[in-house]
Amino acid sequence: MKLTLQPLPYAENALEPIMSSETVHLHYHMHHAGYVKKTNELLGSSADRYASLEAVIDDAATRRQDLFNQAAQAWNHEFFWRSMHAATDSQAPTVPPVVSALVKRDFGSTDKLIQDLLARADAHFASGWLWLVLDDNALVTTTTPNARPAFIDGLYPLLTIDLWEHAYYVDYRNRRREFVEKCCSKLLNWDFAATRIREHGHDVARAQARA
Ligand code: FE2
Repeated sequence: MKLTLQPLPYAENALEPIMSSETVHLHYHMHHAGYVKKTNELLGSSADRYASLEAVIDDAATRRQDLFNQAAQAWNHEFFWRSMHAATDSQAPTVPPVVSALVKRDFGSTDKLIQDLLARADAHFASGWLWLVLDDNALVTTTTPNARPAFIDGLYPLLTIDLWEHAYYVDYRNRRREFVEKCCSKLLNWDFAATRIREHGHDVARAQARA
């Protein structure tokens, strides 16, 4: 496989005022594109051995740290852009029933889930990723260090927020918590989370059918 840089799912200014077009432009064209380019360079002639980016990451995890880092960051960034939705209005985004039912069951309310995400981000030192995941069928928040994607630990990612400085420093300087809080309250793409939950359900159904 040859990895390609997927287009952003919205215009570069679509996440304003929470993420400036300057931040999105730099983040996408410099950082994300760089991870894709370096992944292809490191794969070289071995690229044909892999059917997917996930297969590259799984294989590199225990034996090629350089390739793991670049490939994982390519995966994380594509997932991150899809985890954000265009900030087209000032209202809080609506949460589809398939998501809100799980949120109510496991956190009590969306506000409490967001507080949990913020606490996770606060407790995370240095670069990494903030995740909402399914752990089996439980809705869980977590962080991972550096380039590590949550799926490598057997978790099923629903949403992610980039905690690397390049994600927020242009707009927020060192105020990472403010960046995370605004992303959580205004930009999280709950429709994408709903799609992921439905896909996970299909995966479970297929796994049960094979058992
Ligand atoms: Fe990033």
